[in-house]
Parts: sequence; structure tokens; C-alpha cells
Amino acid sequence: MTSKVSIIGAGNVGATCAQRIAERGYADIVLIDIIKGLPQGKSLDMLESMPIFGCDRHIIGTNSYQQTANSEVVVITSGVPRKPGMTREELLQTNMNIVTEVTRNVVSHSPNCIIIMVTNPLDAMTYLSLRTSRFPKNRVMGLSGVLDTARLRSFIAAELNVSVEDVFACILGQHGEKMVILPRLCTVSGVPITKLLPQETINRLAERTLKAGAEIVGLLKTGSAFYAPSAGVAQMVEVIILDKKQILPCATYLDGEYGIKDTVISIPVKLGKSGIEQIIELELTAEEKSALANSARAVQELVKTMKL
Ligand code: NAI
Ligand code: 2OP
Repeated sequence: MTSKVSIIGAGNVGATCAQRIAERGYADIVLIDIIKGLPQGKSLDMLESMPIFGCDRHIIGTNSYQQTANSEVVVITSGVPRKPGMTREELLQTNMNIVTEVTRNVVSHSPNCIIIMVTNPLDAMTYLSLRTSRFPKNRVMGLSGVLDTARLRSFIAAELNVSVEDVFACILGQHGEKMVILPRLCTVSGVPITKLLPQETINRLAERTLKAGAEIVGLLKTGSAFYAPSAGVAQMVEVIILDKKQILPCATYLDGEYGIKDTVISIPVKLGKSGIEQIIELELTAEEKSALANSARAVQELVKTMKL
């Protein structure tokens, strides 16, 4: 049976996700937005590209949740993106209302789905969706680590003039400037970058990664990144639908792991058909543990302001 993936929000991230997933050919797609005609027009355009890919998947655009019924995975991208000078946290008030309403609709039509949150501020919105849905914690996660590590991997590969395929990066914590980059666990074919690059270069690449989202907002001026984010979501969806059991860094609810309770932050998890199948606990130094606790605190503070 063909899998069904619904994507809420047919803007930059949502529509590009739909395209990437449709072209991979393992799922039918339902794309939803509140703007009349937008998801219908984008879906029709994508559907008309399918013969070129030799792909028989259906792509439906709609303003109603009926057609999302019984989706296996639902990606939530609905909400407002940043403008230059804004932090992700400043999106909270607007996006929390959207995410609450959208999550309720998702749950009532697809009670067994896995939710992948994209809307910012990411960790707080993932927490909100988990609480609103009342889903078990393995079925609600967010896009953050896959994107943040892809950015750092691309910077490391460019710096060393090596293939991105050989570069692994390790980032934990909040999707924001309090993310925790672990250079000693970033490697090129197994060799830590601390042995390949001088400390000042590592610091420069880390700083660029912390601000990578803002760098793109500054260039685009009218919105935020969507090519790399949609590629990250497509990878998460694929790993779940195809039950690949890959370990990816995802925004995940922690209930004591890493000494952190009742908080969503990014950590490495094993993904498969039932969502988050295992939380991987890395051994951290005292300094890294304290940076992670600090990162988690920033998320907790923001979550508190939602008064859930
Ligand atoms: P966009 O403005 O291009 O698209 C958002 C879409 O959501 C719009 O088409 C809008 O009409 C729709 N929408 C708003 N309220 C809705 C509702 N109640 N139901 C259905 N659709 C609704 O924005 P973009 O660039 O696609 O970004 C979307 C969100 O994702 C933003 O909050 C952005 O900050 C976040 N984001 C997060 C990333 C991450 O790594 N977690 C990466 C990139 C973006
Ligand atoms: C990013 O990091 C907008 O959070 C998004 O590009």
C-alpha cells in the first residue's frame, strides 16, 4: 500500500517538501494551506511534473483536512517565518495559535500519524504540538539537528575541500543560537576535525552555523531558508516511511535523558516506522553537559511563556 504524507502549509518549506517527497516516489502527498488556490495550484503544477520523473504518485492540494485522513506522517510548516533582524523566539505568539489549531485538526483526521514539526520557534512548537496532540512522545518530533548539522557539514567540507559525504557533524540542543556544537565528535572519515583544522577555523565555522538561519534571512529579506530545511524534512520522512532505522539528530521530548526533563531539544535518535524508536545518549564532558543544560533552559523559559 502507498504511504500518505500530509504537509500543512504550502509556503516555501511546505511546497518544497512536497516536491522533494513526491519526486522520491514512495508516498502520495496532500498539501494544505488556508490560502484558497495556493495548495491546489502548487500541487497541480507538481503533479504535471510527475511524468517527467516517471512517477505515479498522487499530489492533492486542498484547504480542508478531510483529504489528509489517515496520513502516516504529517509535516507542520504552517506559520510565519522570520524577517531580517527578528529572532525565531519572536514568532512564538503568532505561531503558537496556528500550531495549536493545526495540531487539533491533524489529530482528529490522522489519530495514528507521526508529526514532524517545522514551524519556529521549533523546540517550543514541537513541545506544544506534543502536548496538544496527547500523542506518545515517539510520535512527535521536530526538524532541527538534521538541518543544523547539514549546514556545518557543508562548511567543513568546503574548508577542507573534501566530499560532504565523508563529513559527519554533531550538534545537540536548541534550534537557535544556544545550540551546542561538539567539534570533538565532528569527523571526516572518522578523523575528528580537531585534528584537521586549527581552533580558530573551527570557531569560525561553528559561529557561522549558529547564525546560518539568520545569514539566509539577511540575504533573502522576505523570508527564511527552505531548500536545506525541506531536504532535511524529506530525509526524516523517508527514514520513517521506509523504516530505515537511521540515527538522525531530531528535536525530541526528553524525560530524564541527558539529565533533562520535560523539554524538547535536538539529540540523536533512531528513526523508523514507529517514529522515535530509541534515544541515543552520548557521553558528554562536564562542560558539554552544562552547555546542553543551558540550551535546554532557554527552551524551557520560552515554553513557560505559553502558559500551557
Ligand atoms: P511561508 O510563509 O512561505 O509559508 C507558511 C505557510 O503557512 C503560508 O502559505 C501560510 O498561508 C500557511 N499558513 C498559515 N497559517 C496556516 C494555518 N492555520 N493552516 C494552514 N496553513 C497556514 O513560510 P516558510 O518559509 O514555509 O516557513 C514556515 C515556518 O517554518 C516558519 O515558522 C519558519 O520559521 C519555519 N522554519 C523552520 C525551520 C526549522 O529548521 N525548523 C527551517 C525553515 C523554516
Ligand atoms: C533556519 O534555521 C528558519 O529556523 C530556520 O533557517
